[in-house]
Amino acid sequence: MSRIAYVNGRYVAHAAASVHIEDRGFQFADGVYEVCEVARGYIVDMKRHLDRLDRSLRELQIAWPMTRAALEIVVREVVARNRVRNGLVYMQVTRGVASREFLFPADTKPALVITAKKVDPAHTSKRAENGIKVITVPENRWDRVDIKSVGLLPNVLAKEKARAAGAQEAWFVDADGMVKEGGSSNAWIVTMGGSLVTRPAEHGILRGITRTTLFDVASKLGLKIEERYFSVAEAKAAREAFISSATTIAMPVVAIDGETIANGHPGSVTLSLRQAFFDIAEKSPA
Ligand code: PDD
Repeated sequence: MSRIAYVNGRYVAHAAASVHIEDRGFQFADGVYEVCEVARGYIVDMKRHLDRLDRSLRELQIAWPMTRAALEIVVREVVARNRVRNGLVYMQVTRGVASREFLFPADTKPALVITAKKVDPAHTSKRAENGIKVITVPENRWDRVDIKSVGLLPNVLAKEKARAAGAQEAWFVDADGMVKEGGSSNAWIVTMGGSLVTRPAEHGILRGITRTTLFDVASKLGLKIEERYFSVAEAKAAREAFISSATTIAMPVVAIDGETIANGHPGSVTLSLRQAFFDIAEKSPA
């Protein structure tokens, strides 16, 4: 079955879908996006993702391309038309198409693209059984990474560097040696005492939706959360480490910069968070 994309008001064959050469997303990375997990036929945490989309749009003074209610309908339609039961749905809003001037164009309609993709859950589960490796890289992004913008070149380069090192994620580290977040995920550790530690989200990282829902999961499981900075050294000596994102949920990290974490196997706290996640997350039928 061929894939279908939604592009500016039309459902089109994915292979033939295109945007204008003067779309400001293409020329200036002047746009924002969201990725929602689709699991067992449900869109996970759609409300929180659309709340964050609203915030990103407001921060960049980009208007909603349609009402939120209408967008929800299109998101569901794209998931349905692509028969995605497990996978992800991607939505991107740019400031729209205009002659290439730096200043915001007057009267330009925001552009909207929505795609959906199947992902084999067995593949993700296998990854979680083995755990992933991360490398650390110096932070080199702008200071508004709290906005989920499509300007992701440093993230692309960092993740490519991770791949070259045989790892699956790169953690950005600030000038004080403190871990910020991954190229496309939030970073966590579990202390010897069993507390979850993750960097506060008020500045310098994206407030991940999975991160927020994991707070709910942790409190349900009776786990303590410390929202504080942690260093690369503390992470390497931790009982467990993991990443979170819509596409990975809680994914164990078994090595950092080639140094094995604990016994080199996924930790039990991470796996229990992963296990309980879907019981707690908001699920809307696709
Ligand atoms: N990335 N930090 C960064 C830099 C991210 O790009 C992401 C998500 C997260 C986790 O956010 P959430 O839990 O809301 O997915 C943190 C998505 C998955 C992506 O770019 O594909």
